[in-house]
Amino acid sequence: MTMRANFRFLAATAALALLAAGSAWAGTRERLSLDAGWLFHLGDVAPPAVKGHGMSYGSAKAGSAGGAAATDYDDSGWRRLDLPHDWVVEGPFDAGENASQGYRPRGIGWYRRYLQLPPSDRGRHIELQFDAIATLSQVWVNGIVVNRNWSGYNGRNIDITPYLRYGEDVNTIAVRVDADAQEGWWYEGAGIYRHTWLVKRDAVHIATDGVHADPVRKGEHWVLPVTVDVESSAKAAHDAQVEVSLLDPAGREVAKGRAPVHVGGLDAATARLELSVSKPALWTLQHPALYHVRSVLRDGRGELDRVEVQTGFRTLRFDADRGFFLNEQPLKLQGVAIHQDHAGVGVAVPESIWEFRLRQLKAMGVNAVRFAHNAAAAEVLDLADRLGLLVMDENRNFNPSPDYMQQLTWLVRRDRNHPSVILWSIFNEEPLQGSEAGYEMARRMVAQVKKLDATRPVTAAMHDGLFGEVNVTQAVDVAGFNYQPWAYDRFHKLHPTQPLTSTEDTSAYMTRGAYDSDREHHVLDSYDDEPSEWGATHRKAWRAIAERPFVAGSFVWTGLDYRGEPTPFEWPSASSFFGAMDLCAFPKMAFWIHQAHWVKDRLVLKLVPHWNWTGREGRPIRVMVATNAPRVRLLLDGKPVGEADVDPIDMVTFQVPYAPGRLEAVALRDGKELGRDTVETSGAAARLVLTPDRPVLAGDGLDAVPVTVSAVDAQGRPVATANLPVHFDIDGAGSIIGVGNGDPNSHEADKGNDRSLFNGLAQVIVQSRRAGRGPLTLRATSPGMQGAVAMIDVKAVAAPPAVPAAEPFTKIGGWRIAPAQAERPDPGMAPSYGDMNTWGWGEPPMKQGPETQPWRVYRASFGVRADRNDGRARLVFREIAGRAEVWVDDVKLGDKTDPAPGPLVLALPKGAAQRTLNVLVQSQPGQPSGLVGRVVLEAGAR
Ligand code: GAL
Repeated sequence: MTMRANFRFLAATAALALLAAGSAWAGTRERLSLDAGWLFHLGDVAPPAVKGHGMSYGSAKAGSAGGAAATDYDDSGWRRLDLPHDWVVEGPFDAGENASQGYRPRGIGWYRRYLQLPPSDRGRHIELQFDAIATLSQVWVNGIVVNRNWSGYNGRNIDITPYLRYGEDVNTIAVRVDADAQEGWWYEGAGIYRHTWLVKRDAVHIATDGVHADPVRKGEHWVLPVTVDVESSAKAAHDAQVEVSLLDPAGREVAKGRAPVHVGGLDAATARLELSVSKPALWTLQHPALYHVRSVLRDGRGELDRVEVQTGFRTLRFDADRGFFLNEQPLKLQGVAIHQDHAGVGVAVPESIWEFRLRQLKAMGVNAVRFAHNAAAAEVLDLADRLGLLVMDENRNFNPSPDYMQQLTWLVRRDRNHPSVILWSIFNEEPLQGSEAGYEMARRMVAQVKKLDATRPVTAAMHDGLFGEVNVTQAVDVAGFNYQPWAYDRFHKLHPTQPLTSTEDTSAYMTRGAYDSDREHHVLDSYDDEPSEWGATHRKAWRAIAERPFVAGSFVWTGLDYRGEPTPFEWPSASSFFGAMDLCAFPKMAFWIHQAHWVKDRLVLKLVPHWNWTGREGRPIRVMVATNAPRVRLLLDGKPVGEADVDPIDMVTFQVPYAPGRLEAVALRDGKELGRDTVETSGAAARLVLTPDRPVLAGDGLDAVPVTVSAVDAQGRPVATANLPVHFDIDGAGSIIGVGNGDPNSHEADKGNDRSLFNGLAQVIVQSRRAGRGPLTLRATSPGMQGAVAMIDVKAVAAPPAVPAAEPFTKIGGWRIAPAQAERPDPGMAPSYGDMNTWGWGEPPMKQGPETQPWRVYRASFGVRADRNDGRARLVFREIAGRAEVWVDDVKLGDKTDPAPGPLVLALPKGAAQRTLNVLVQSQPGQPSGLVGRVVLEAGAR
């Protein structure tokens, strides 16, 4: 487009935009991903020191944030990346860093992102949403600070409508993340590690998390009370209707209702209605029937907004004598607590990897998950609903002061429709729990939860103070016990009407695939005989709960290993040993022990250890069988070497003198064989094997699959003791986003193309490319071994709606305008020191009416990005009315000699990063004059 054509286009779009702003109907919402195309800088960027009156005055104004928050900051050297992003997992291990956070540097980082908005967005309500940023963060839009947040776990929804520019102008988002601030004693990662969105709605719209629809059973009948919070950033009041339909799992409408709502401009209102529903399909753990509640907001102009939330029909209650009931059936909580990091990816865990993690837990027999000690990502709650897992939903900070109460409010509003959520937890292990202060704080937080959700009980995970005169159990519905099995009976006796549950137990150590403890090398065996001092073995902790019907259930610490807190060791151990699975979600023996405890509808049978004990011939090897069968027979090469009844909690162990061969466990009931598990002595590792968890990936740049790497001998027998280096190569529509092997002592990189097998296994996580399609080939090689190839089919899918990243756009703004002068002014003319009033302030279009005195000076200071400071950049005046002289840092750059309105384009020589521009404009008698069009710095041709 030529300059003039470009200008005409802009003028036309501006006119359309004004029309749109006047009539302001902007249809239904768009939820657009902002994940792609960020710029990242690791380390802080100190803003320039503010000195002198001019800078002090200027930097105190809206839009004038300095340093890396400034709109014209030079980020040309920054790394380009897509979110979610955790920078800690990219870093090295360092003994000098915090053990609790996994011995990796945290530090400070900056992110920037550019975006353009069509003029048709003017008048809509535009919200910037961050699902989480670790840890202490500040967000600027166009140089205006719009959010400060002190938690790495809560989302925030920021109305950025008033700060935005439309059309050619580019908007700048800048985020400073301080991860030296820590909230936990576990690995927390750092950065914008969950998704980021731009949500565009009509000015009159349904508030974010504004639909509350949680079914309630009334006798034989169900009602669905629905509240819909409507907000408006419109200029006038509106009358609208909210129509709500309930869709059954097949998508059929089964109930509907409507309610009027009147909302003032820049105000909020709530529409309320109740649907009645007969005989809904229940949400159960086996058949988690999900309903959708569709809320449509309309007025005379049409549909303004619509939101669909997922919900389910189920009842829950905690009984003081009989524990938890789901749909009036008693259900022992077979729970685990987990943190949120995974091998290779840190806390930036793709949804599909979460699904894999939760499926692994479900396979273990887990029916409840406690997301410790913070809110999980929204999509994880959706998955729990879909998979049929119960959730104990935990708040991070125990603090009822306004900032933190806001975090609790956000959590409950976001999660209160999920059928999976059965219990709110306001804290974990707070020293104030047994004091009056703790009680008063808890009371306020519980009251806030109850205001937002009257259907679910509240707990707090307490590790002491249960019997204090004033304590937090008096403020919550369900008393939560962390590691105090001795107190179950005493508390129940003293408080026979208060339900109780273990909120955390076990804390026992295990190294996956290891069957000899070797403390010197930080290895702990897998026979479940390594409890922490404050915890118990998996079996002992479960026994105390299983034998007491009044204890609602267990939350084993933990379902999966996590980085940090490498108890009982320190450096070089960098990850925990507590998991029933390792960091890759590969099962340890605790997985099968609990599976045998918890799974009732199929045979569970697992025999350990492996059978590669060269050098121990004739010596006894401890053999353990986890099973839900009542009796087990052991065969070595077909000959009986042991037979015993199985204790359903302790399982069964044998001593078997080692001889190479094939060891088999035969599960028996009444003498009848139920099934077998086998381990076999293998030869040396000869060939690698790659096993993708799924053969197909969606080509959306999000879908990811874990691929298991293992080794077999020349006869194809698994080599459980292989610890070999493996290299990976990938071709096609995807990439490797992380590698791991579950060794808590490993310092190998999570990123890159190499990882050793640890006790026979490693994991590669492969993610599709956006708009990807076709075959993806992953190859694994190791010196002296036969390599392996896995083919994954990347299926083309529609690209998820997204806001493309714009290129930085240097528009010169912040102009000062001298009073009109009779004579040609000095080209270096500037406002005198401290004078903020004689010269005017403005942005193009700056058009002066016919002037009595012909001369004016327009002055601005601007930053020149390194990629525009190469002598090729062009300083473009889209339109100047009158004659003009352009001076940069007191050197004349060029003239506009024709007084008629028109553009002026000048080459900008290389020079300082910060320049000052003086434009002298001379008007024609009787004609308007000034900088009528934008002034921009364009990159020159390369
Ligand atoms: C608990 C705590 C957990 C974890 C665990 C380790 O006291 O709640 O976060 O630290 O101990 O055993």
